[in-house]
Amino acid sequence: MTEKLLLKALQGKRTARTPFWFMRQAGRYLPEYRELRAKKGGFLDMVYDPAAACEITLQPIRRFGMDGAILFSDILVIPQALGQKLEFVAGEGPKLGKLDIDALDVSAIHETLNPVYESVRQIRSGLKNEGFDHTALIGFAGAPWTVACYMVEGQGSKDFGRAKAFACAQPDQFQKLLDILCTATADYLSRQVEAGAEVLQIFESWAGQADNQGFYDWIIAPTKKIVATLKARHPDIPIIGFPKGAGSLLPVYAAETGVDGVGLDSLTSPAWVKGQVPGKTLQGNLDPFALLAGGKALEKRARAILQAMHGTPFIFNLGHGIDKETPIAHVEALVKILRNKES
Ligand code: CP3
Repeated sequence: MTEKLLLKALQGKRTARTPFWFMRQAGRYLPEYRELRAKKGGFLDMVYDPAAACEITLQPIRRFGMDGAILFSDILVIPQALGQKLEFVAGEGPKLGKLDIDALDVSAIHETLNPVYESVRQIRSGLKNEGFDHTALIGFAGAPWTVACYMVEGQGSKDFGRAKAFACAQPDQFQKLLDILCTATADYLSRQVEAGAEVLQIFESWAGQADNQGFYDWIIAPTKKIVATLKARHPDIPIIGFPKGAGSLLPVYAAETGVDGVGLDSLTSPAWVKGQVPGKTLQGNLDPFALLAGGKALEKRARAILQAMHGTPFIFNLGHGIDKETPIAHVEALVKILRNKES
C-alpha cells in the first residue's frame, strides 16, 4: 500500500520526512492559474466547473509535489447553496446579497454543490492517473462562525463588528444561523468524503474576532457538533481545524472540538503549543510574507519551525494563504528545504 505522509502524520505517527502543503497553493501566484482564469472568466465559474477545478487543484502538485492537494473551491459556496446571493467582484473580494435567515433552505444545497463533489472525484482520479500516489486529497469548508461573519456582514471586513454585534444582540437568530450552517457544513463535508476526500480542513479564519464567551458559543460548540457528525459517519476521516487568531484559546479548541490536527497561525509559538495540545497533530505556520520575501529570512524561519516541531507529529504549512505576488522560485526554495528534512 502506498504510504501517504500526510495521513500518517494525522494518525499521530512519526514520518521519515515532514509532510507539507500550503494554504491557497492553487491560485494567482501561478501563471497557469492566471491563464486559465483569464480564459474562464469568473472565479465562481471555475469553482462550479469540475474539469477546471480539477486542473487548478493539480497545477501546484505538478510543480511542487506537495503531500496534500486541496480541493479548489471556496468557503462561501455554502451561503450560496443555502440561497444567499454571492458574487466575487474583481479586486474587491466577495459580495453577498441580503441575509434572510428564515429563507435559507438546507434541504436543497446539493443541487448547487454537486459539481464540487464531481471535482473531488475527478481530482482523486487525476492524482492517481498522473502518478501522485503520495499526495492526499484534502476537502474543506469554512467553520460556521467564519461563514456567518460573511453572511451577516455581506462582505469582508477588518473586524466583522456588525456580525459580532448581531450575534450578541440577537442570540436566538444567530444560533439559528449557526445551526443551519452546522447541518449544511457536515452534509457538505460528508459528501466530499464519499466522493474521495481523504482529509478535511475546517477553516475558522476569523476565530480571532470572537470574544472569550463567543469563542465557546460560536466557535467551539458548532465545530464540535460538525466533527462529531462527521466522525459518526466516517470514523476514519482525519479532520484539521484551523482557528486563526485563537491565541491562548488554542488548547481548549484542540481539546474540545475533537479535531485530529490543529492549524497554527504565524504568531503562535511552536515551542509553546507543542506542550499544550496532547495527542494532536500540529500544522503550520510559516508567515506567507516570509515566503514572499524569500532568501535568508525564509530559510531561517522555515528551519526554526522544523526544529521546534521535531519529535511531534507535524505538517509543514503556512500560517495563512500564500500571497499572490509570491515568486515561484521562493516556493521552490522552501520545498527544497522541506524535502531534505526529517521530522
Ligand atoms: O488552494 C487552496 O487553498 C484551495 C482553494 C481555496 C480558495 N479559498 C480559493 C480562492 C480555499 C481553501 C479558500 C478558503 C477561503 N475562502 C477562506 C478561508 C481561508 C482564508 O483565506 O482565511 C476565506 C476567508 C475565503 C473567502 C474568500 N475567497 C475571499 C475573502 C476571497 C477574496 C480575497 C482574495 O484572495 O481574492 C476569495 C477568493 C478566492 N478564493 C481566490 C481563490 C484562488 C481568488 C480568486 C481569484 O481572484 O482568482
